[in-house]
Amino acid sequence: MSTNQSQKPLTTTVNSLGHIEIGGCDTVELAKKYGTPLYVLDKATVESACSEYKTAFGRYAKIRPMYASKALCTIATAKLIAKMGFGFDVVSGGELYTVYKAGVNMSEVIFNGNNKSYDELSLAVELNTGRISVDNFSELEMLNKIAVAQNKQVKIHLRIAPGIECHTHEYIQTGRIDSKFGFDLSQIDRAITYILGKYRNLELVGLHTHVGSQIFDNKIYVDEIEILYKEMARIREKFVLCLGEINIGGGLGVKYTEADNPPSIKEFADTIMTALVNASEKYNIRLPFVYIEPGRSIVSPAGVTLYTIGSQKQIPEGKKYIAIDGGMADNPRPAMYEAEYFAEIANKSASIENLQTVTIAGKFCESGDILIKNIQLPNPEKGDILCVFNTGAYNFSMASNYNRVQKPAMVLVNNSQSDIIVYRETLDDLISRDVILDGLE
Ligand code: LLP
Repeated sequence: MSTNQSQKPLTTTVNSLGHIEIGGCDTVELAKKYGTPLYVLDKATVESACSEYKTAFGRYAKIRPMYASKALCTIATAKLIAKMGFGFDVVSGGELYTVYKAGVNMSEVIFNGNNKSYDELSLAVELNTGRISVDNFSELEMLNKIAVAQNKQVKIHLRIAPGIECHTHEYIQTGRIDSKFGFDLSQIDRAITYILGKYRNLELVGLHTHVGSQIFDNKIYVDEIEILYKEMARIREKFVLCLGEINIGGGLGVKYTEADNPPSIKEFADTIMTALVNASEKYNIRLPFVYIEPGRSIVSPAGVTLYTIGSQKQIPEGKKYIAIDGGMADNPRPAMYEAEYFAEIANKSASIENLQTVTIAGKFCESGDILIKNIQLPNPEKGDILCVFNTGAYNFSMASNYNRVQKPAMVLVNNSQSDIIVYRETLDDLISRDVILDGLE
């Protein structure tokens, strides 16, 4: 089974106490030691996903996997993923700064985003960021100004909206015609004319697209590659410009629930490599250098979140709610995308006694703060530790302080050892940037 097809971290076992163990660590002990909610990340599962990508694309020499930091961005994860031979896709000054501080080779970084600020772009140019994927006309102009000011030549990709719809939640489709991201196909020529004419400090080396996220249908990538090649052939013809690079984005899905059936990393790679070879023949274009930007499929299965079960509410002849000590602030995905998750009680993992169908409610003051609807759990009781799987991607990175709760800690587990990689926020952290105005004392 491919890592992205695993619902749980690869090292998950049940120990003699009937507790879930991950990375050789008893999750009930982790909850006791570090408190809950707690993000737990299994090092071996992240490494496994990275090496699967490397092996799967092994026979295509000109491939560069760039981990999409937006899925989970911390200094420790950046160091870990860089060590696995990945570059990075960043989309903000914050992500750029984090990977820089992690010691990532900045020539292995691509800066994406639809509204990068002057300061963000200046920092990117200053740090010699490998590629900037330019999203629109005003960014082209601004970036050229910055490059001139810093007396640099900046290598860029043009982000294009290929007009492809994919069957994922509307909020995580990004390649549609009316998407906010990238140049419309009809605007590409004007952009190139500007680059070759007045924006002389920019060097166009490739095209970039990303069609969406949590994708289960590889065919979308075939369509995407076809569109990229068609454009490259047209650009060669019209501007006598041979673009040597394409970036096909990320998006490979993961298995949140039993019903999810994502293609494996190998199937994803095989489809892409075949499509590249076919398109190169069809358009008589030399195989380009290819960037891919997987995020979710690298970190999601490696992560779980541990919560402590608190109050319960049985609606007479209705639902039974089990409340946990976290929810939409540490995992906004169910509320935002109706995302579904799978969970077990960490301290009753082996049990099938008194199975009850319950709804897991978060602790936040919002009716929509429901983490999981209708899940069967064995006799859930106050004080039990709930382990929610597949939370490694887009949980920590989308977490908020709603209701002024402290963001959870994150620990990395490996070989029976656990290490904090992000501290839990303290109450003082929460008020540390508040200003006490004189007149209000
Ligand atoms: N490259 C670009 C340009 C992207 O916009 C994205 C994700 C990726 C790569 C990585 O995609 P992945 O391999 O992780 O699917 N917050 C949403 C996901 C938004 C994804 C946005 N772009 C969620 O929680 O499902």
